[in-house]
Amino acid sequence: MGRSRKLHIGIMGAGAIGGYVGGRLALSGRTDVTMVGRRPLADEIASRGLTIREFDSEDHVAPAQLRIEEDPQALCSCDVVFCCVKSGATAQVARALAEALGPATVIVSLQNGLRNPSVLRAAMPNNATLPAVVSFNVILRDGATFHLTTSGPLMIETRASGVDQPWVDALRAAGLEVDEVRPLDPELWTKLLVNLNNAVSGLSGAPTRDMLLSRNYRRVIAKLLDEALDVLQAAQIRPANFRGVPLRAMSFIMKLPTPIVRVVVRAQLRVDPEARASMWTDLERRRPTEVDFLNGEIVRLAEQHGLDAPINRRIVELVHEAEREASGSPQMSAETLLHLLGEK
Ligand SMILES: NC(=O)c1ccc[n+]([C@@H]2O[C@H](COP(=O)([O-])OP(=O)(O)OC[C@H]3O[C@@H](n4cnc5c(N)ncnc54)[C@H](OP(=O)(O)O)[C@@H]3O)[C@@H](O)[C@H]2O)c1
Repeated sequence: MGRSRKLHIGIMGAGAIGGYVGGRLALSGRTDVTMVGRRPLADEIASRGLTIREFDSEDHVAPAQLRIEEDPQALCSCDVVFCCVKSGATAQVARALAEALGPATVIVSLQNGLRNPSVLRAAMPNNATLPAVVSFNVILRDGATFHLTTSGPLMIETRASGVDQPWVDALRAAGLEVDEVRPLDPELWTKLLVNLNNAVSGLSGAPTRDMLLSRNYRRVIAKLLDEALDVLQAAQIRPANFRGVPLRAMSFIMKLPTPIVRVVVRAQLRVDPEARASMWTDLERRRPTEVDFLNGEIVRLAEQHGLDAPINRRIVELVHEAEREASGSPQMSAETLLHLLGEK
């Protein structure tokens, strides 16, 4: 990476995560930022810029502070490209990036699920492709406003040689908390397990905080988690702790009365009252969700080990039904969900 010029950082997929990360980098002014996104958002950002909203602050990025295009070719001179599309779009985007990028560009998958880095690697075998875990949440609001609703670090499996330091420093200078973690697999599994509740958010339409403060929604989430932990145990996969808490303990806490959970949540997480998982956004926008890459991964792992994961399987079916109905979140109550998952 040449040090005589500014680093050039690319964002493939200017949605909630891409717009937020790209916007923060552009605000810092330390790097050139090019984002690739869809119209009309690209037009909106190109003409009026974007807004980054955090818990008690708001910053505006002017159009001149970044470049936004629709064609991935615009990323051809990037030192690093953050892949920020939904998992279902990765294969198509990987082909476009393979045409646009030279072998020196580092690709970082800022995506949920386990398979995206290998899909990117298969299309670009000569590029370094690094997995990452995004531990914060962002909602994209009207007027190109990227609203951070849950705090947390970016965990990235950087290379031990230190070659990734310039762009990691750029992320930190932009105000993003970065944890370099090697190997990242245990954290990727933990993120997947925590994300099992995205489907509950999508099906219920409930904000994350309301869901966590409802005992019956927590019972649904604990059922998904317990089943998944049993499958991982059978597969001899050991997930990392979540913010210091073992996931079995988290499941235990989920089943406790709400006043106790309220204290734990307050100590562990800063959650904006409007925070919702992106699966809710996808259902509301009539787009395919990532359920096959989250709960579906548990179903597949169970099958590989001669087991069944009926609760996660049923949740996958329910989300697919909601996708087919295309009328937004079905706004299921916790009691309906418990009933549909076989609770008497
Ligand atoms: N949002 C969060 O808070 C959050 C938190 C942690 C992790 N994640 C993960 O981060 C990843 C990104 O999530 P997100 O919520 O940011 O998704 P998103 O808002 O849907 O953003 C992805 C954007 O990329 C666009 N895109 C897809 N293919 C494209 C192409 N070929 N050319 C140009 N633009 C393209 C999409 O447009 P179309 O919709 O038109 O295809 C969409 O606008 C996912 O894996 C998600 O699970 C999200």
